[in-house]
Amino acid sequence: MEARFYGLIDKLVLALQGLRRSRLWLSIFRREHLPQTEADYLAMNRKNFFVHILPATIHRKSLPLTYSWFWMGVVAFWLFVILVFSGLFLMFYYVPSVERAFDSVRYLINTVPLGRFMRNLHKWAGELMVLAVFLHMLRVFYTGSYQRPREFNWVIGVLLFLVTILFAFSGYILPWDQLGYYAAKIACNIAENTPFVGEQVRWGLLGVGDCNNLNQFSLIRWYVIHVFFLPLVTVILIALHFWRIRKDEYSLPPEPGQGEGRS
Ligand code: HEM
Repeated sequence: MEARFYGLIDKLVLALQGLRRSRLWLSIFRREHLPQTEADYLAMNRKNFFVHILPATIHRKSLPLTYSWFWMGVVAFWLFVILVFSGLFLMFYYVPSVERAFDSVRYLINTVPLGRFMRNLHKWAGELMVLAVFLHMLRVFYTGSYQRPREFNWVIGVLLFLVTILFAFSGYILPWDQLGYYAAKIACNIAENTPFVGEQVRWGLLGVGDCNNLNQFSLIRWYVIHVFFLPLVTVILIALHFWRIRKDEYSLPPEPGQGEGRS
């Protein structure tokens, strides 16, 4: 079974290499110097942005989908890309005002062409991203990939997990319906109970002196958190995460009996 799988991969790679040397390909992309040696390939890896962010090498033993749990980290990344684009679409219609937020969402789903689809895409991708990030974290833990030399990346990952949860939570508040309003109230009560600086945290996150009086300041703060602050932090953390994956190299499945200090 495994030999057949690698046989198929080899055939696919050979076919792709053939295609890249074909007259058709060259007539479109006009590359005179195709990489011939390993050094050429490494040079290509350094020069192309999209290729260079991937690890330069990966061991065959790490390739089976059962090891990476269907590349759950990659799945989380693409869900994030979908969220950014569908979220940009929603921003053209959503109005972050306590009087108009709910109606703007209703208008979006009932009147705007593709509005309902884009909103559902955003909602589903958001929920699936929480699941994908959680499964990815579980995989990293289960395979012991958090160990040396990937401890720092594990910490970045934990921050990414927290940011993902905050994304889902802040998005929930924005329609300012009953669910959103009371979610904001819960956030307010949690903020208020922060030891020593509760009042300041409540003021910073909700802009009110009392959790029974949530208002426009509360909604606009969570809107800015959702569409500016969290995306910015996520992009920076993902860049750091990918940089570390490249530097630490992708982990290998542990040999039977192998514990601490695996590579
Ligand atoms: C937005 C969230 C995240 C994204 C987009 C992301 C993306 C990725 C990708 C693409 C990989 C390499 C391929 C793969 O394993 O699927 C990876 C590996 C890794 N991730 Fe994440 N990740 C995220 C969250 C996390 C979390 C929550 C943790 C742990 C707390 C974590 C820890 C790691 C570690 C340690 C590796 C290296 C795994 C190895 O070498 O086997 N990541 N991540």
